[in-house]
Amino acid sequence: MPLAPFPHARPRRLRAEDWRRRLVRETNVTVDDLIWPIFLIEGVDRTEPIAAMPGVERMTIDVATAKVEMAARYGVPCVALFPYTEPNKKTRDCSEAWNPENLVCRAARAIKDAVPEIGVMQDVALDPYNALGHDGLVEERAGKPARILNDESVEALVKQALAQAEAGADILAPSDMMDGRVGAIRDALEADGHTDVIILSYAAKYASSFYGPFREAVGASGALKGDKKTYQMDPSNTDEALREIEGDLLEGADMVMVKPGLPYLDICRRAKEQFACPVSAYQVSGEYAMIEAAAQNGWLDRRAAALESLAAFKRAGCDAVLTYYALEAAVWLREGS
Ligand code: PBG
Repeated sequence: MPLAPFPHARPRRLRAEDWRRRLVRETNVTVDDLIWPIFLIEGVDRTEPIAAMPGVERMTIDVATAKVEMAARYGVPCVALFPYTEPNKKTRDCSEAWNPENLVCRAARAIKDAVPEIGVMQDVALDPYNALGHDGLVEERAGKPARILNDESVEALVKQALAQAEAGADILAPSDMMDGRVGAIRDALEADGHTDVIILSYAAKYASSFYGPFREAVGASGALKGDKKTYQMDPSNTDEALREIEGDLLEGADMVMVKPGLPYLDICRRAKEQFACPVSAYQVSGEYAMIEAAAQNGWLDRRAAALESLAAFKRAGCDAVLTYYALEAAVWLREGS
């Protein structure tokens, strides 16, 4: 019996030593692929643990700035800022979202001041500021489920996006899944002279159960009434993701994102093949929590599992990955793992 379809084929030949494996490796994760999401809190020189995300902390702006400086030294190209909003700043009109002095806007200014060489990304979505926890404005209806208002939300998102661009954000990432928001934000940015601001749209964002720990991290879990299924996508769909991505590209997105990450690599692959545009994926909080929980139990090797998961994104065709491992992975990659 031949070992393989033709005589003398021994695929193991190329796996026999590290140098051979490196020589034929098809994809490599590098620090250039990483976007680091961080959580911010008010105050000075303080951090807070996030129970469902061991190893991740909410940080005050000064602490975050120092950490971002370190990330830049390791070559991480971009950080994404997420605010923990005090409950008294959450309202139904979500007006804190476009307050130029809100936590993320102050953080963006501080970070761009101290570390101008790193890219700063901000989510455009109302959920951190919404008393009802949704990404859009909510119309409550007696006896019926609340309605998430599309066009009114887009107007609010545009105001938020302009405040963030004004504060120095390099990348705006609409994560709300309202229809038409990318085009509206792009028009407003052009009109206001923010022609270099990148739009990285959360184009194919699923109504996923993997966001649980994040909602704790930003203090939105208590606030959220109902679920996000009327605007985030049904996890069973694929073609719909491609239509969402195409729409966002036509409206002016420069890059698109698939979210969550690992459970949705098929979507990343199809997006890359169909649109040949920069595709990113978000290894979300629940994915991070799964690896951490298993590692804490001694059930898997934390560092190896984290790096393998990042390699999977590259294999699926992603250009960039948002990952809570970004800073650590940058250190690991420099050490040569
Ligand atoms: C908010 C937003 C969410 C995430 C990023 N931006 C949560 C949600 O849509 O409910 C999730 C990120 C993560 O889970 O790590 N629009």
